[in-house]
Parts: sequence; C-alpha cells; structure tokens
Amino acid sequence: DNRESLYLVSEYASKYFQNTLHKTDQGKAIGLSYFKERGFTDETIKKFDLGYCLDEWQGFTDEALKKGYQLEFLEQSGLTIVKGEKRFDRFKGRVMFPIQSMSGRVLGFGGRILTNDKKAAKYLNSPESIIYYKSKVLYGIYHAKQSIAKEDNCYLVEGYTDVIQFHQTGIHNVVSSSGTALTSDQIRLINRLTKNITVLFDGDAAGMRASLRGIDLILEQGMNVRVCTFPVGDDPDSFARQNTLSELKTYLDENAKDFIQFKASVLYEEAKNDPIKKADTIRDIMNSISKIPDRIKKEIYIQECARIMDISEQVLFSSLAQLNNKNT
Ligand code: CTP
Ligand code: MN
Ligand code: MN
Ligand code: MN
Ligand code: MN
Repeated sequence: DNRESLYLVSEYASKYFQNTLHKTDQGKAIGLSYFKERGFTDETIKKFDLGYCLDEWQGFTDEALKKGYQLEFLEQSGLTIVKGEKRFDRFKGRVMFPIQSMSGRVLGFGGRILTNDKKAAKYLNSPESIIYYKSKVLYGIYHAKQSIAKEDNCYLVEGYTDVIQFHQTGIHNVVSSSGTALTSDQIRLINRLTKNITVLFDGDAAGMRASLRGIDLILEQGMNVRVCTFPVGDDPDSFARQNTLSELKTYLDENAKDFIQFKASVLYEEAKNDPIKKADTIRDIMNSISKIPDRIKKEIYIQECARIMDISEQVLFSSLAQLNNKNT
C-alpha cells in the first residue's frame, strides 16, 4: 500500500509551492500579485495554503528528487509527468490550490493559469490516484465542516475561488465540487453534517441548466435543497468581493428558493405556450419529485407544482404513477 508515500509527497509539494509563492522573486512577482489582484488577503492565502509552481520545466521535480522523494510517487500523484528520460512539472507556471480531505490531508491540486491564453485549460487538476478519488472529495470541506454543522446548512458553489472568497467575506459553510459533476458520495459527505444544501450557481444560464440534473441526487438522500442564482456575469466569488458580509447574507436569504419550486418556475416560463414542451417539463419535474423519499413532502410538492404550472394535481399524480411503474 503506497498511500502513505503519496500523502507525504503531496504534503511536501504543497509546502514547496507555498514557499515558492512567498519566498521567491518569481513567486512574489507573479503568483502572489495575482492573488492580491483577486482581492485575497495574506491571511486568506495562508489559510488555504495557496501556492505557486515556477515557470520552469522541472524545478519542483528536481527539488523533490533531491529531497529523496521517489519518481514513482511523484508520477503517481500526477505532480510529475514522465516522458522517457524527461520529467515535467505538471503545474508549471500556475498558481496552486491544494485540495484537502475532511481531515486536512493534501490529496491533489488545482492549478490556475495566469495568462488569458484561450488555448490552454484555465484550470489543470491532479489526476485521480490511490489517495485522490475525485468523486469522493469536496474542495473546502476541511475548513467548512464545523461551520456546516453549526449553521445546519451547506453552500455548494462551482469553483475554488468561490469557496475562498466566501471565507474571506465571513461565510465558512461552503464547499465546491470543483468542475466535476456532483456525485452521491460528495453529497453523503455533506449529509453527515447537515440535511440542508443551498446550491449557488454562476450567473450564466449554461452552468445552471447542466447542474439542475445533479441536484436530483441530493433529493434522493432526503435532503432539503435550495438554489440561488447571481446576476449575469457574476459568480459567488465576484459577488462576494463587491459586497459586505451583511449584504451577501441578505442577498442569499432573499434569493434562495426551494429547488423544486425554482425548477418548476424556470421550466414553466420556457414551456408555458407550447403544449409539447409543457408535457416534457411536467415529466422532468415529476422525475425530480419522484426522488424524494418522504411521501408527505412529495404530496406537498405536487400541490405546489400544480399551482406554479397551472395544471391539475390529478395530472401530476398520474405522471408520478407512470414514473413509478417505469422505475419498478
Ligand atoms: N474547472 C476546471 N477546469 C477548467 C475550468 C473550470 O477544473 N478548465 C473547474 C474549477 O474547479 C473551477 C470550476 O470548474 O473553479 C468553476 O469554473 P469557472 O466558473 O469557469 O471558474 P472560476 O472558479 O470562476 O475561476 P476564475 O474565477 O478563476 O475564473
Ligand atoms: Mn494550513
Ligand atoms: Mn461557471
Ligand atoms: Mn465561476
Ligand atoms: Mn470566478
């Protein structure tokens, strides 16, 4: 079992990237000033162990090998890319976001490019490894867990910087699935701490449409889901940056809507004048409602949706019966 070796090399890399950010000329001039421009304070940068990987082909790998870390584990962790005799630092020239487990161990990294080069991926992430199963990890969970339990709610955002900016503003019960589609295992991590999730979407329709499906997985676990959107062009990070804590809290309180009601009204708006679309929409909503384990909740939602979609409860109940037949 090589897991311990991978934990050690990942921990070393995180320390190395932090040191590079704070102590080298390039790190300070490029990495640190990037984070400062994004409005991150020194305290925030330290809290999230943010770092920088030098813009050199194998600066990190050479140093790690010199310190005695084995190439085998550097490669397995994805930190080093091995091609024949050559070694490359995967995260060359990127600012680094270490991804930590529930107990704070470093499992992998996200690395953000600093240029606006549209050909390169904005974020590069560590590949899966024997310590990093992407479907079982939530970015920020280590720093959020206490607050999630205390507030009895968890905000779920799209990205690394959304988590970080929320913390800096003063909201700590926040995690991100970081680019991957939400999974049942990720939801289970939250479910141990609270039954309430508020999903925060970036202010672009594309992102929201894709995420609506993943949310059914939260309903399946019997959790309560609310959703909140941001103005077009904003995401939780940019919005939090422009507002005080009390403004942000007020915005979230006033704009968080029950998921089923939200989905019903969004879809209904698009479909109300088109009978065929309207039928599809009903099936879609009823499919979400069918995932809710609690019978009483189910009935209440059916009543609500009948009202929102201007249709009889009878139609919705028969749609549900059809779905149940299909699923059994
Ligand atoms: N992501 C990724 N690879 C990409 C783009 C995005 O892994 N090429 C993931 C990252 O975890 C990112 C999240 O998806 O944080 C959300 O993407 P996006 O909203 O585009 O990025 P932001 O988090 O808003 O990043 P930034 O503000 O730095 O542009
Ligand atoms: Mn730390
Ligand atoms: Mn987005
Ligand atoms: Mn975003
Ligand atoms: Mn952003």
